[in-house]
Amino acid sequence: MGAERSPMSKKRLRILIVGSGAREHALAWKCLSSPLCERLYVAPGNGGTASIARNAPVQADEPAKLARLARREKIGLVVLGPEAAVAAGVGDALRDCGLPVFGPNRGPGRIESSKAFAKEVMRAAGIATPKYRIFAEAEAARRWARKLDGQVAVKADGLALGKGVVVCGSREEADRAIDAMLVSHDYGRAGTTVVIEERLNGPELTVLGMTDGRVVVPLAPARDFKRARDGDEGPNTGGMGAYPPPLGVDDRLVAELTETVLRPAVDELAARGLEYRGVLYAGVMLTEAGPRVLEFNARFGDPEAQVVLPRLESDLVALMLAAATGRLADHPPLEWAELPTVGVVVASGGYPDSYQTGFPVEGLAGIPVGAMIFHAGTRVQDGRVITSGGRVLTSVGMGATVADARLNALSGAVRVRFPGAFFRKDIAQEAV
Ligand code: AMP
Ligand code: GLY
Repeated sequence: MGAERSPMSKKRLRILIVGSGAREHALAWKCLSSPLCERLYVAPGNGGTASIARNAPVQADEPAKLARLARREKIGLVVLGPEAAVAAGVGDALRDCGLPVFGPNRGPGRIESSKAFAKEVMRAAGIATPKYRIFAEAEAARRWARKLDGQVAVKADGLALGKGVVVCGSREEADRAIDAMLVSHDYGRAGTTVVIEERLNGPELTVLGMTDGRVVVPLAPARDFKRARDGDEGPNTGGMGAYPPPLGVDDRLVAELTETVLRPAVDELAARGLEYRGVLYAGVMLTEAGPRVLEFNARFGDPEAQVVLPRLESDLVALMLAAATGRLADHPPLEWAELPTVGVVVASGGYPDSYQTGFPVEGLAGIPVGAMIFHAGTRVQDGRVITSGGRVLTSVGMGATVADARLNALSGAVRVRFPGAFFRKDIAQEAV
């Protein structure tokens, strides 16, 4: 193992994970299994991370406060969870302090925070993506959408918590989506520019690559379920469930997407002086004409991380440290457990629109063997776990088969109770 070859990397580290979702709970849980982890902080964390790490009361988008925290606690590795941390320049601030950071600076992170920039990078790098135009003016946008007969995806340029994409099936729907972004400004500043894309069809796939700006190491692929309700109905959300490896996806496809999507994107950013260190996420649609990239994210997916990380047998801390310090070329090949995992997100009633929080979460003590709960929108108050967000937690099931893993995830999800709780019952059903 690389960790044994290099005496430097044997040193135990204090690790700071930035964020508060189920992804960060999963990252924290995985880091704790590493012999390299001396002490773990999560900022701000949630009700789940509070029980395994030290939560620090600093938000993910507060670079100066995070830098102070990291210096005070002598942090040796910083891990950026959410896009908000990347876009706020947390990577820049902490690298300025000389700290190894797993997660890109704001500049290369624009591959997520500006869809127009991402499209431009894809065009320059020759990455296959749906044809598109960029608009700031509604009438021109409507004209182009009409040309495509309303069969378009209307995308707010900026960050919108996974909700800034409206997939349209008619001219009227396209007009409404364009007006919501460019006329009534329902998406605020995120929607002052829109990308309008031709609508494609096909199954979707998340490919994740660890990179130090030069070397790209693919992780296990996953499939994410973005719509709020069973049967892919309802509005787009941050993600309601996931499982790897998806049906029909093999190592060859992952290798192909690494060479045709992830590596060209990292190289194109590097050519622009934007070194990317962290995990790069490509959301790909497998169309009849071949794979097409719908989006890039500058971080692990949520809920993809919750189902991919439990399968990783290699030391995650050693891997993230290698990426953060530009030494991925020395890292040995990754090892994966042959362990199907399925993640089911339990959300607050009303999510992704308005919802209530502050409800006690019952049932956490009775989670069946074979399921694991990663918290997201929870906090601890007077010793009780209380809901505090839209996606409240992810139930991850494991099993000998995808069918077993799915049943375990569902039996974990039904045990967790709070008023209004809902979850999708069809996650990974296609693979059973
Ligand atoms: P994005 O955030 O760009 O990945 O979009 C969110 C979701 O909207 C995707 O996962 C797809 O399900 C859907 N979507 C985005 N772009 C398109 C497109 N061009 N054609 C069809 N569906 C799309
Ligand atoms: N699961 C989609 C995302 O993390 O953006």
